[in-house]
Amino acid sequence: MAIAAVLLFAGCGGAREVKVIKLAHGLDTQHPVHKGMVRLGERLAEKSGGTFRVDVYPGGQLGSERECIELVQMGGLAMTKVSASVLEGFAAEFKVFGLPYLFRDDAHKVAVLDGPIGKEILASPQSKFVRGLCYYEAGNRSFYTKSRPIRTPDDLTGLKIRVQESPMAFALIRAFGASATPISFGELYTALQQGVVDGAENNPPSFHLARHYEVCRYYSLNEHTAVPDVVIVSTHFWNSLTPQQQQWLQEAADESAVYQRSLWEAATAAALAAVEKAGVEIIRPDRAVFAARVAPLHDEARKDPIIGPLDERIAHVRP
Ligand code: GCU
Repeated sequence: MAIAAVLLFAGCGGAREVKVIKLAHGLDTQHPVHKGMVRLGERLAEKSGGTFRVDVYPGGQLGSERECIELVQMGGLAMTKVSASVLEGFAAEFKVFGLPYLFRDDAHKVAVLDGPIGKEILASPQSKFVRGLCYYEAGNRSFYTKSRPIRTPDDLTGLKIRVQESPMAFALIRAFGASATPISFGELYTALQQGVVDGAENNPPSFHLARHYEVCRYYSLNEHTAVPDVVIVSTHFWNSLTPQQQQWLQEAADESAVYQRSLWEAATAAALAAVEKAGVEIIRPDRAVFAARVAPLHDEARKDPIIGPLDERIAHVRP
């Protein structure tokens, strides 16, 4: 598979080269994260005078998030958008985002992601041929279940909960007393339907647009993590660009991130309204009780040479 195809157009001014960038991800085209990527393509086309085109491949067409990262590493795919949780396997710094109740509120999260810590983590997988371009908002992750509503952490005891391919996510679910089963996002609907797992956790737009609410009738907004999404580019591709082209791509990504973030609140409200209308019971439990149950994960993290200092620095960030 070519990393970025090159097309030749014969315009009035002679032949013009158009570089086509493939950008793969696992979400639905109605998702605000997908809309961010479309905006990225539009901005890049404008900035480059039409010499770049971004083709977005949604819905996991080119593979799971881990598979797409591997393609990016090998240079078989120019770009992908994944959850920071799955990037843990490529750069341990990303683990910090999997810690529960990491951010005090949205302003704290924005200050961390847009500030030096966010930039440092984004740059961390470079030695693995992966360059982080920007973060996308992915809201807060909360539990949804098929037959047992989660009102307190005790309700999770013994349940089988799907997790992303992420050791931190695994540890978190275990700390809640549930058993964790790693499954890729694309395989989750069937896994829920067939009872391989009793539930999962995600943000409202993903819960809604992946139609998991058709199977899981309880959604408990305990908001245990706020793991961002990340747009990454292959360093093989990046290094093939001129400094000017690199600047266009970085700016297009940054501008798309601002736009994508602006879509989030309304998309979340719309998703919650839609699932509620479809008969899902939305539970708003006391977050503090859930936070207390998994607080020991932060004590553990503080002993880790990579995420310990990051966790501590994040706690001290003031918006
Ligand atoms: C979020 C995230 C996706 C990820 C999904 C998951 O929706 O935006 O990138 O695939 O969670 O739970 O796997």
